[in-house]
Amino acid sequence: MPVRQFDSAVEASTTAARFILDKLQSTLEAKKRASVVLAGGSAPWHLNAALLGFRGEIDAGLIDWFFGDERAVEPESPHSNYRMQMETLLGPLKISENRIHRIRGELGAVKAAEDYRRNLTDFFSGPTAFDIVILGLGPDGHTASLFPGDPSLSVDDVSVTISVVAPLKPHVERVTLTLPAINTADTVIFFTGRSGKEAMIHRLHSDSAGALETAYPFESIRPDSGPAMWFIYGSEA
Ligand code: 6PG
Repeated sequence: MPVRQFDSAVEASTTAARFILDKLQSTLEAKKRASVVLAGGSAPWHLNAALLGFRGEIDAGLIDWFFGDERAVEPESPHSNYRMQMETLLGPLKISENRIHRIRGELGAVKAAEDYRRNLTDFFSGPTAFDIVILGLGPDGHTASLFPGDPSLSVDDVSVTISVVAPLKPHVERVTLTLPAINTADTVIFFTGRSGKEAMIHRLHSDSAGALETAYPFESIRPDSGPAMWFIYGSEA
């Protein structure tokens, strides 16, 4: 499991952003297009600041931007992942609306999931095949909105599903990519702070990982293309 650990969020963000941009450059050279799945939560604030620092290096307008999950809220809500990503990355990059594939949380989780699933099927003309998926890590081991014990973890026949009510704030219904939609990506990256997640991060190094235990949702992220890359910031205790 390739794990890079940094004391500072800035160092982690710069290194992760460089990795992402290098991946994007090679993808755009090969395909003249790229699909990137953005994460929610607060860690993306750091990563996005670093990505903006490299903005001149790629034609961000050739990239289609997606979301790993969304809360069933209005796009203007302070709980909206879309709003956070618009404010910290997509807005400053001036990405045109037709390149942003928003999960329409305001429809309610079930309708928003159906809408997003249709959008993905149309975009990929079949099964999802994202180029880059960026994920966060929750203190309970969730990622995207795949929470421990949630039925969403066993959904394997569609790319998008719902998680009924998140056990963590905000306690609202959510829409999430399913494990297959993530594990079929070319490159998966976890970008997370250490604070509050030490027990989960410790599992990255423990031999339980070798036993392929999947006690927590993040441990079910095992891309067909190879292990996810981890960028972790925050000093070890
Ligand atoms: C969400 C995210 C979620 C997030 C983790 C980590 O919608 O909340 O998709 O999976 O990545 O909860 O959040 P922090 O980065 O804020 O710790």
